Amino acid sequence: MGNGFLGTPASLMLDVVVCSLVLVLPTLIFSLYQIKIRRNYSLHKRVQIALGIVLFIVVGLFEYDMRSQGGFAVLAEDSPHYDTAFMNRLLRVHLCFSISTVFIWGATTILAAIKFPSPPGPSGFSPTHKIMAWISVVDMVGTVVTGLMVYYFGFIAG
Ligand code: HEM
Repeated sequence: MGNGFLGTPASLMLDVVVCSLVLVLPTLIFSLYQIKIRRNYSLHKRVQIALGIVLFIVVGLFEYDMRSQGGFAVLAEDSPHYDTAFMNRLLRVHLCFSISTVFIWGATTILAAIKFPSPPGPSGFSPTHKIMAWISVVDMVGTVVTGLMVYYFGFIAG
């Protein structure tokens, strides 16, 4: 057993990250509902900035924890899927999504916070934000889906 709380061989921070990933999608759907249906720009701004800060802290602690524990290889070495062609491909796809998400998500949040007026509302920056924002959403969904698959095949599936 690892020192996590989900009863798997994963570490504490891996369990924290997985729970955060599960919570990202409903939070994102709530934020998109606020913007597209309710036109509540201020709430969308606050939710997105809070999400960005929480994810930044969780991912930072996770990276530190992974390194100090010896990495995914040490934690998942008992899994029958460990070091299979499927698992290595899944890990590579997950890394592509997660690393690109850090940059595009960060840029989308910071640029929106700077370029939109305060209080926020439609402006000349809207077309750029819409493109960046939808790329961020797709990238984040890819990160969450492949991240949960890595956790499942690394620590749960027999
Ligand atoms: C990664 C972070 C963010 C994501 C994923 C995101 C996502 C989105 C999406 C999908 C839309 C709707 C686009 C459409 O109608 O098709 C939108 C609109 C908008 N967002 Fe964000 N957003 C983020 C951060 C922010 C921040 C930090 C602000 C702060 C001001 C902001 C302000 C707005 C505004 C004002 C609109 C309305 C634009 C318009 O309809 O003209 N967003 N956002």
